[in-house]
Amino acid sequence: MQFYDHDQIDVLFDAETLQKRIAELGKQITEDFQGQGELVVIGVLKGSFLFLADLIRQIDLPVSVDFLGLSSYGRSFETSGVVRVTQDLSQPIKGKAVLVVEDIVDTGLTMSYLLSNLATRLPKSVHVATLLHKPSRCQVEVPLDYIGFTIPDKFVIGYGLDYKNLLRNLPFIGVNRGDTPPITL
Ligand code: IMP
Repeated sequence: MQFYDHDQIDVLFDAETLQKRIAELGKQITEDFQGQGELVVIGVLKGSFLFLADLIRQIDLPVSVDFLGLSSYGRSFETSGVVRVTQDLSQPIKGKAVLVVEDIVDTGLTMSYLLSNLATRLPKSVHVATLLHKPSRCQVEVPLDYIGFTIPDKFVIGYGLDYKNLLRNLPFIGVNRGDTPPITL
């Protein structure tokens, strides 16, 4: 890929490492939800769409998919805790087993808001799968049932995660090296 500055990005998890871990998560989820009927997988937009696409192909169960769009107010790289729903679910989840799929849990504020929001819709159960977790930044404890990788306090990009709404299409997860932006348009 030529459109970004390779020298400014260190690869943290390459495509193969991501797929290997996602296969493990899918196997675990398949075992845990065996015999429970439909599993409603809810992707949190936008960052989770690639993870969700790869994860559901590793889940050997009857899965339905829905999306919830969330965006946090405040500075671009920091969650303010005030979350806005930009796109709501298309179906009720009352009485259903739900698996929320998120790209990264950083402060936990977005997930905390999301879990309270979903609880008001009376699902049978709610579990959470996040590809990445930055525990050092935790402000609110949220129950995370499936964690892909625990990472240090670094701003990560690629595989769904954005830098100024760009670089979501990188096939790996990387870290911006210094103060120089990884992409200029
Ligand atoms: P939280 O509310 O602080 O847990 O943040 C969750 C949201 O912030 C994620 O869904 C991401 O959209 C965004 N975010 C947090 N850390 C990063 C990062 O390192 N790279 C890209 N987006 C991030």
